[in-house]
Amino acid sequence: EAVNGKQLGHLYENISSFFRQCIFSVLSVGPVPSHIAFIMDGNRRYSKKQNLLDGDGHRAGFSALINMLRYCYELGVKYITVYAFSIDNFRRSPEEVESLMKLMQEKIDELIKEESIANRLGIRIYFQGNLKLLSAPVRSAAERAMVKTAGHSKAVLSVCVAYTSTDEIVHAVQESCEEKWDEIRKRDANNAGGYLIGLEENGKDKDDHLIGVTNVDRHMYMAVVPDPDIIIRTSGESRLSNFLLWQSANCLLYSPTALWPEIGLRHLVWVVLDFQRNYLYLKEKKKQA
Ligand code: FPP
Ligand code: MG
Repeated sequence: EAVNGKQLGHLYENISSFFRQCIFSVLSVGPVPSHIAFIMDGNRRYSKKQNLLDGDGHRAGFSALINMLRYCYELGVKYITVYAFSIDNFRRSPEEVESLMKLMQEKIDELIKEESIANRLGIRIYFQGNLKLLSAPVRSAAERAMVKTAGHSKAVLSVCVAYTSTDEIVHAVQESCEEKWDEIRKRDANNAGGYLIGLEENGKDKDDHLIGVTNVDRHMYMAVVPDPDIIIRTSGESRLSNFLLWQSANCLLYSPTALWPEIGLRHLVWVVLDFQRNYLYLKEKKKQA
């Protein structure tokens, strides 16, 4: 009997999954990064290159993300972060912003379906950024996804939307100031109004009324996951474009020329080997920080 297309598909999937297992078990002899972040650049260029309709490049980009998520999961990378939409992207044409948001909403709903990768593998999803800037339907889809996957703990996918690092830092500083101010007011009430007077008189000598790095760090959106070990930006660009500036001080950067929908297993293997080659140096840098 002739083998049908579906059976061939399964066969191909089984062979490539076995092939990955072999590669990953060799890679796992060395240290495996715990967090990889991706700047998914080059989707429109892919669409042009392949003569696709506008928007289909981003669709292909989403499939590439799902594949990459599976590879990272199989390799044992617990945290994955992606830059899906920056605050600056709102300046693109209204048609493009709308079509991207529509796609986002559709894909978020797909991500929380019963048989989705998030449910099958136990992946918790966070949406990080200034979510107020999103339209109501996208925001509520994002919130639904966060609630629905809150009990998962095998791996964590952080999707940065309406995100820029500078916005995240300003937000964290504001929250830190509010918190510090509350603390000062409480102390003042306990001191029957004496604390603030004391602060005015000798405040310059003590620092405990000021916010520091640890305060700000705690209020970052991304504080729920460790800092990334690696940032990958596709399509040959080597700019961070306002992504994870606070968190990337000791990060390995990699910018393959492949466009995001073209990213594959080979890129992951290559960057993990590079990470392993630089591991002792990176670890030392982290210790000094
Ligand atoms: C940058 O490529 C990519 C984006 C602006 C959006 C990427 C979003 C996805 C792949 C979908 C993610 C969805 C979910 C639910 C996580 P570009 O548009 O800048 O392409 P170009 O550099 O070729 O112009
Ligand atoms: Mg781009």
